[in-house]
Amino acid sequence: MIIHPQIQGCVARNCHPIGCRAAVQQQIASVKAAGPFNGPRRVLVLGASSGFGLASRIALTFGAGADTLGISFERGPSDKGLGSAGWYNNIWFRQAAEQEGRIAINLIGDAFSDALRQQAIDCIRQQLGQVDLVVYSLASGLRVLPDGRQVRSVLKTTGQPFSGWGLDLEQDTLVQQSLSPATPEEIRDTVTVMGGEDWQLWLQALQQADCLAPGVQTVAYSYIGPESTYPLYRDGTIGYAKEHLHATAETINLQLAELGGHAWVSVCKALVTKASAYIPVLPVYLGLLMGVMKERGVHEGCIEQMQRLFAAKMYGPHGVVADGNRLIRMDDHELDPAIQSAVSALWPKVTPDNFHALGDFAGLRQDFMELNGFELPGVDYGAPVDVASLTELLP
Ligand code: NAI
Ligand code: NA
Repeated sequence: MIIHPQIQGCVARNCHPIGCRAAVQQQIASVKAAGPFNGPRRVLVLGASSGFGLASRIALTFGAGADTLGISFERGPSDKGLGSAGWYNNIWFRQAAEQEGRIAINLIGDAFSDALRQQAIDCIRQQLGQVDLVVYSLASGLRVLPDGRQVRSVLKTTGQPFSGWGLDLEQDTLVQQSLSPATPEEIRDTVTVMGGEDWQLWLQALQQADCLAPGVQTVAYSYIGPESTYPLYRDGTIGYAKEHLHATAETINLQLAELGGHAWVSVCKALVTKASAYIPVLPVYLGLLMGVMKERGVHEGCIEQMQRLFAAKMYGPHGVVADGNRLIRMDDHELDPAIQSAVSALWPKVTPDNFHALGDFAGLRQDFMELNGFELPGVDYGAPVDVASLTELLP
């Protein structure tokens, strides 16, 4: 079978499993090139199969020799298709980690459920004993609460409606997109799905089960961004959820005090992932930002960002490096006033006719394709993929 990319709007409908292997290997090589650091030895990663969670796992295993339990919600091969990129990322990561003698366990299922929490606890007890770090990197549009109620997050603004050019990756063009103001229920629901409640439930359950090692740390990922994106993010429903996440870090931090542990939020740079490509209008900012940051030599992809987080800002010579609000600022380069004024000068000029000349939309597109295993260097996309042997692989 020859696999061609199927992109719909800003969503990939398929993946190239062999390309996904090349993408995982590329990230491993990047971490190895950056050199080893003294990090945590046993790590639980929630949302381990793609984006920041996968990059975190790779940075910790191949940079600090960590054994990991990774949790994700992914589709394997079925009559509906070959399965999701994250399914294969889990497989290729485990194979590579095991080759280096590391433990790498994948649990596939709903991380919001008590059943999966119990499964994870059993698995930690049996195979890792305890964990030294819990990375919380879930991104989801839906959370099924422990009582069975389904809650959906929305990507809307608050206050005034907001509109602007958005990116259509399928047609490689810009389209007008608008965000309407959310209702109070929509804000509340988005906080329920993407806020800190589930993170706290995880840490509580792990602590009660004695799965957290003395001095344990936990980190969740957030975004703030520059003022120009506030209507899209910080003052949007997702921004409310992140505010809740930040507040929850303080609650968890108190809870962990008896173990000498700490809870942190890392405020990251905007990057192309499955989740971020889906936020209206934001990808246009992202394309402009990528152009400016590459031009100035300060661009980072997911893997460089996560490698720097752990090696320099959490487990480096100065321990955890945080600001006055206890936030770890990985968005330092993005928010550099020189970078932001360059982006702000370009943004109002963007049209469907000139966007490629103004920003690095080719680079953005390349990153998006690579997330799904397409357009990776060294992969022969003309060669048929052996579906039968892929179907035998288990996460
Ligand atoms: P992603 O879509 O690449 O990864 C999401 C992960 O969550 C996947 O591993 C997926 O399998 C897992 N997942 C989703 N629902 C699940 C469920 N019910 N049970 C188990 N696993 C589930 O997203 P990305 O971008 O890596 O996002 C991770 C975190 O980083 C999010 O909190 C996001 O807000 C944050 N972040 C992202 C930024 C970006 O630019 N992409 C910037 C700053 C923060
Ligand atoms: Na992730």
